[in-house]
Amino acid sequence: MVVPYKHEPFTDFSVEENRKAIEEAIAKVESDLGKEYPLIIGGERIMTDDKIEVVNPANRKEVIGYVSKTNRDLAEKAHKIADETFEWWRKSDASLRADILFRAAAIVRRRKHEFTAHLIKEGGKPWKEADADTAEAIDFMEYYARQMLRIDEGVEVNSRPIENNRFHYIPLGVGVVISPWNFLFAIMCGTTVASMVSGNTVLLKPASATPIIAYKMMEVLEEAGLPAGVINYVPGSGKEVGDYLVDHPRTRFVSFTGSREVGTRIFERAAKVQDGQKWLKRTIIEMGGKDTIVVDNESDLELAADAITYSAFGFSGQKCSACSRVVAHEDVYDELLERVVEKTKKEVKYGDPTDNSFYMGPVIDQGAYDKILGYISTGKEEGRLMHGGKGDNSKGWFIEPTIFADVDPEATIMQEEIFGPVVAFTKANSFEEAIDIANNTDYGLTGAVITNNRQHLEQARQDFHVGNLYFNRGCTAAIVGYHPFGGFNMSGTDSKAGGPDYLLHHMQPKTTSEML
Ligand code: SER
Repeated sequence: MVVPYKHEPFTDFSVEENRKAIEEAIAKVESDLGKEYPLIIGGERIMTDDKIEVVNPANRKEVIGYVSKTNRDLAEKAHKIADETFEWWRKSDASLRADILFRAAAIVRRRKHEFTAHLIKEGGKPWKEADADTAEAIDFMEYYARQMLRIDEGVEVNSRPIENNRFHYIPLGVGVVISPWNFLFAIMCGTTVASMVSGNTVLLKPASATPIIAYKMMEVLEEAGLPAGVINYVPGSGKEVGDYLVDHPRTRFVSFTGSREVGTRIFERAAKVQDGQKWLKRTIIEMGGKDTIVVDNESDLELAADAITYSAFGFSGQKCSACSRVVAHEDVYDELLERVVEKTKKEVKYGDPTDNSFYMGPVIDQGAYDKILGYISTGKEEGRLMHGGKGDNSKGWFIEPTIFADVDPEATIMQEEIFGPVVAFTKANSFEEAIDIANNTDYGLTGAVITNNRQHLEQARQDFHVGNLYFNRGCTAAIVGYHPFGGFNMSGTDSKAGGPDYLLHHMQPKTTSEML
C-alpha cells in the first residue's frame, strides 16, 4: 500500500545547517564544472564531437559542461530503439513503472541539495527557486506514480448478463518530449516521467540552454531500475533534431513546453500526416502566458504588493505563470503602485544567485536579454517607467526589475509575453472593467484577484478565463497535485500538469467485450 501523496516541503534557508549544506553542494558543483556528457540511446553512452556548450547565465565565462549533440542519424537510431522497446514496455506492469518513480524520487530527495546547487548554476536560479524546482521534480515523480496505479485499477463499465465488458487505458507509443529551460528539472522531469509511467517510450530533447540536469535525471532513473531504451536522452538543435522527431511517422505523440512560437510550429508539423503514418499524432503543448493580477478597491494592499512583487520578479519573471500585468481599481491604483515600487526598490536586489542575499539572478541567455530589453524600450514609449529599465551583460545577463505605470491595455507590453522581470500597471474604473481587461489577451494561463469582496471573487470564478485562477495570493508557484497547472487559449492544449487526468493525455482507452 502506497502512502498518500504529500508535496515535498521547501527548505528553510534561515536554518544554518541547511545553508551550509547548499554552500557545500555549490562548491561540489563548481569542482565538477566543464565535464563532457554523452547522449543515451538504448542505454548506450554516445559521445559526439559536436557539443552544446552550457554556460552559467550569471557568469558566461563559466562553462557548466559540454553536452553531446544528436544529429539526424542518431535521432533515427534513437527513434528505432524507442519503437522496438515500446513493444515490450507497453505490456509492463504499472506497478513496475510506478516503483521506478518511487525509487527515483527517494534518490533525488536524499541528494536534494546537490540537485538544487546544480540548478543554481545551470539555470541561474536563486536558492529558493532552485529548491522549489527540485521539490517539484520529486512531486511529479511521486504524484504520477500514484496516478498510474489508480488508472491501473480500471474504470467500471456496464455488462449485460451474457457478457463481460472491460474498459482500460493503454499507452500510445513513442513520445517526443521537448522540455523548457525555466523549470529545467521540474517540467523536464514531469513531462518525461508522465510519458514513461503511462507505458510509453520516450525521446527526451531537453532545452539546449539546460541539458545537463536532464542527464543527471537519466542517471537517477537508471539507478532506480529504468530499463535501457525506455527513455532516450537526445539533446540537439530544434531545427535539426526537434523537427525530425516531431515529423517522424512513428512518433505517436509530442509533449512540449516552451514558447508560443515553437509550440504552434510543433502543433502544425505534428498535424501533417506523413507517408507511412498510421495515426493522428497527439500533442500536449504548454506555451506561454500574459498573466494578470487584478486588485480591487476593497483589498489588502500590502498583500497585493507582496503577491505582485513575487509573481513578477521571482526567477526574474521567467515563468509562464509570471505576473506581467496589474489591473488595479482607480481608487487604489496610486497607492498600490507606490507600494510595489517601494517594495521592489527595497527587496528586489539582483546578482549572482550563488549568493543567497539576492532576490533575482540573471536571465537565461543573450537572446532573452536582447528580447527583454527590446520590450523595455517599447515600454518606455507605451508607459511611465517607475523603476528599473536597464540591463548589464558585462558578466552575466542581468536585467533590473522593471515597473511601468499607466499602460494602455492594448499596448504591446500588455499583450505580448516578455518572459523577464517586467510588469506593467493599468487602471480600471470598476471590477467588471478590470476583469474585461484581464481577459483581453490571446492567452489564458494564470491570474489572481486580490479583494475582500466575496461577490467579486465569485464573479471572477465565472468570468476570469484562465486555467489557474488564484484568490488573495500571487499567480505563480502551483504545487503538483494541489494546483493542477495549465491554461486556456494560446497558453496550450488545455492539459493540467500535476492534475488527476494528466496521464490520460498519454494513453488511449480500449474496450473489450466477451460473450459468456
Ligand atoms: N508551475 C509553475 C508555476 O506555477 C509555472 O510553470 O509558477
